[in-house]
Amino acid sequence: MAIILGIESSCDDTSASICINGNIHSNVVANQAVHQLYGGVVPELASRAHQQNIIPTVYEAISKAKIHKNDIDAVAFTRGPGLLGSLLVGTCFAKAFALAGNLPLIEINHMQAHIISLFIDDNPSFPFLCLTVSGGHTQIVLVSDFNKMEVIGQTLDDAAGESFDKTAKMLGLPYPGGPLIDFYAQKGNPKAFKFPEPNIPGLDFSFSGLKTSIMYFVRDHVKENSRFITENLNDICASVQQRIVSILINKLKIAATQHNIKNISIAGGVSANSGLRNALKIASQENNWKMFIPKLEYCTDNAAMIAITGYYKFLEKDFVNQNVQPLSRMPF
Ligand code: KG4
Ligand code: ZN
Repeated sequence: MAIILGIESSCDDTSASICINGNIHSNVVANQAVHQLYGGVVPELASRAHQQNIIPTVYEAISKAKIHKNDIDAVAFTRGPGLLGSLLVGTCFAKAFALAGNLPLIEINHMQAHIISLFIDDNPSFPFLCLTVSGGHTQIVLVSDFNKMEVIGQTLDDAAGESFDKTAKMLGLPYPGGPLIDFYAQKGNPKAFKFPEPNIPGLDFSFSGLKTSIMYFVRDHVKENSRFITENLNDICASVQQRIVSILINKLKIAATQHNIKNISIAGGVSANSGLRNALKIASQENNWKMFIPKLEYCTDNAAMIAITGYYKFLEKDFVNQNVQPLSRMPF
């Protein structure tokens, strides 16, 4: 029997989860609405909100899992990558909780946890490729085992989630814009407007050219017609989303061919995108891929992915001591 408490605080969501023998029994996420006022995450405000949310979030996770806090066998926490002030809150809480209960402490890489979230409801066989797409990262990862992962392609500039969020900002939509672009895109025509696909060698991505072309596109059309965005919102969102998705899927196809792998997955906040999920389904049928997609609640930041990764590390007795410090950048 192994009961793991998972803590996630890398960006603007405070989350706690209880994993019992590899099964998720609770996953509580406290979102921070305060950032909407500023059109993006304000690190100082995020740290303060984590500080307020962390204890009630952990206690709710414990109570929803119907366990007692003394039943917990280990504490897993996000060590990085992320905002340092935010990570500090989760790290310090995890250390204090482990110290008080004399429990082992397990450090987790947030990007690896996004990938391991696939194992919550599924069981992809190794090796598989994972397109990990979030607000800060865009990576193609070759996953050979729970603790053996190699980044084989990544963005040279903006992340895919950032492209969604920045486009939304240009269109006057609130933060985080990704889910809103997805919402409007479903009512629009993806062929209405053409945006460029960059020509980047290898398995790396670039989204900065697309961002610039969207900026000029919006500026020029609004100059001619001040109501251009309102009148064409659905079509603009559908066209931008279609392009971001095609950039991602085309690289994934090259990676799958190069590495001769047919087990293909997506993870991270942008894997919640309906256009990306559909495009992966189509690519899987065309290429005979076996695909793995996390449930929506495990795409965006959550502690269930931290708790389950903690469970696999617990089995390996992969623990850290109380000297551990959070890392804003944390390589695999
Ligand atoms: O993984 P995540 O929750 O946090 C980070 O680790 O960054 O990813 C957040 C990102 C944001 O950029 C958000 O706009 C994007 O995921 N996102 C989406 C959707 N849901 C979340 N982007 C497009 N479509 C969505 N449905
Ligand atoms: Zn994330």
